[in-house]
Amino acid sequence: MNNLFSSVFDTVEKGVPTNVRVLLNDVYVITGAENISTIFRNEAYSFPSDVSPITSLRNIFALPKPALKVYIADTSGIKREPAPWSDVKPHRRIRLLTFKATASALSGTGLDQINQRFTLNLADLIHKTGCTPEWTELPDLCQFVRTPVFQAAVNSMFGPHLLSLSPNLAHDFWEMDQRVQQLLICFPSWMIPEASKARQRCLEAMKKWHTFAIEHRDDNKGREESSYEPLQGSVYIQQMMKHFSAMEEMTLDAKASNSLGMLFAMIGSSMPAINWSLLEIFQSPTLLARVRSEVATTILPPLTTTSPSTPEFDLSRLLKLPLLQSIYTEILRLHVAVFHIRSVRHSDFHLGDWLLREGSKILISSRPAHLDPSAFNTGTAEAPHPIHEFWADRFLVPASSTPGNQELKFSLAGCNGNWIPYGGGQRICPGRHFAKAEIFLGIAFFVTVFDIELQVPKGWKAEEDGGRLGMGSLNIKGEVPIRVRRRRSGRESSVIEGNQEERGAEAK
Ligand code: HEM
Repeated sequence: MNNLFSSVFDTVEKGVPTNVRVLLNDVYVITGAENISTIFRNEAYSFPSDVSPITSLRNIFALPKPALKVYIADTSGIKREPAPWSDVKPHRRIRLLTFKATASALSGTGLDQINQRFTLNLADLIHKTGCTPEWTELPDLCQFVRTPVFQAAVNSMFGPHLLSLSPNLAHDFWEMDQRVQQLLICFPSWMIPEASKARQRCLEAMKKWHTFAIEHRDDNKGREESSYEPLQGSVYIQQMMKHFSAMEEMTLDAKASNSLGMLFAMIGSSMPAINWSLLEIFQSPTLLARVRSEVATTILPPLTTTSPSTPEFDLSRLLKLPLLQSIYTEILRLHVAVFHIRSVRHSDFHLGDWLLREGSKILISSRPAHLDPSAFNTGTAEAPHPIHEFWADRFLVPASSTPGNQELKFSLAGCNGNWIPYGGGQRICPGRHFAKAEIFLGIAFFVTVFDIELQVPKGWKAEEDGGRLGMGSLNIKGEVPIRVRRRRSGRESSVIEGNQEERGAEAK
């Protein structure tokens, strides 16, 4: 599969829409920043985003057929006014309803709330990792990092009951995630028993949780669906459950598939991005020192925090740190490989000098766009930074032209249509702001609280696992052994030392 797609893109001339046959379908492959931006700008009606979500819901998340038909039947689009050719009833406009629910949960006050919950959850779970100031050897960096991050994210979106009812969900989810391409291609279950069984266990966990929420719901309580509540979690879940209750096709199985889809979207791509960032940072002592000192400027004074020995960060300042922004942008550029598949609808479409025929499919891949050396800073002749290699400073530019001023600022100028990890236009990923917070906080907590040393042979280079190709961030291939210890520096050491002094005083 991975080779199939790389050979497709190898044959395409940049900027020229090229018609190729992919898995028995005629597809226009679209490349070039201008073409990509034009497609994203015209998504509302010319390129409704039907192919990718419907395929994912059916193949990956096993949405039952009657529920799938509700999605297929909804041709109304995501604008407030339904598309002129659509007669779908307002309560069955599943795309608009989903769009609104994600917007409520992942922008404005919904975003502030989920960011805050994630921060507090992660601080608490980092505090409980059991890591001491003594070095401990662990088999895998990614496993160490994802245990608290997964739980913090899941509890922020779904509330605490999902994981307390199904403590193995994390294990089952990552088993499924690792094999997600097998599910997407829709091999029969007997050919992919591990992937199918892992998905089944995840769906069972979702059903158990939905059943629990229904059984324990207090219908007498005036329910607002405007803020988080522990039973159903975020506004997204609450609003979707309300909409689903008006559609008989949305059975318990359908709700489980939908929730599993949200879980996959929420953590599947953010997690590898945190892992790659930490891998790069902990591999370079110079970069680690720069990141630590930048992040330290956003640590809140002890009085405002809830966890005694774990720092908390001023998130709005953290998100604006130039070096951290550059690392984040570089990691998504290098390791997100997403396909946007669309169909040309309702009329032929003129894309520059080219005509895309109505009914045909189009494919945009982030990878050629992200690896286009003409679109990104590749250093100088004396200090080159090839496009395939990680360079933490790729998106840093002088903050001012005043001679002698060394200050750097973050800039994505000139990358429009080339830096597209989240897609673009109307269907741009609605979770991108939360994803950014997850990644920044993940980096900030781990570099501040832990010393991590990779236990890999000299000259070792991490490779990508192609298992999620086309669906978001790619994972690090294999395990990365580490040794880890809790740091005794800065805020942490002052808290620990303070506690020791107190204990000493008590003993006397
Ligand atoms: C680095 C992390 C992430 C990446 C790279 C990413 C990327 C994407 C992309 C490329 C799409 C498809 C856009 C399209 O159809 O063209 C998408 C859709 C979506 N994402 Fe994300 N995403 C990330 C994190 C998140 C998070 C954290 C959430 C939720 C909390 C989320 C929720 C969603 C949802 C609900 C959709 C479907 C939207 C729709 O069908 O209209 N994503 N994401």
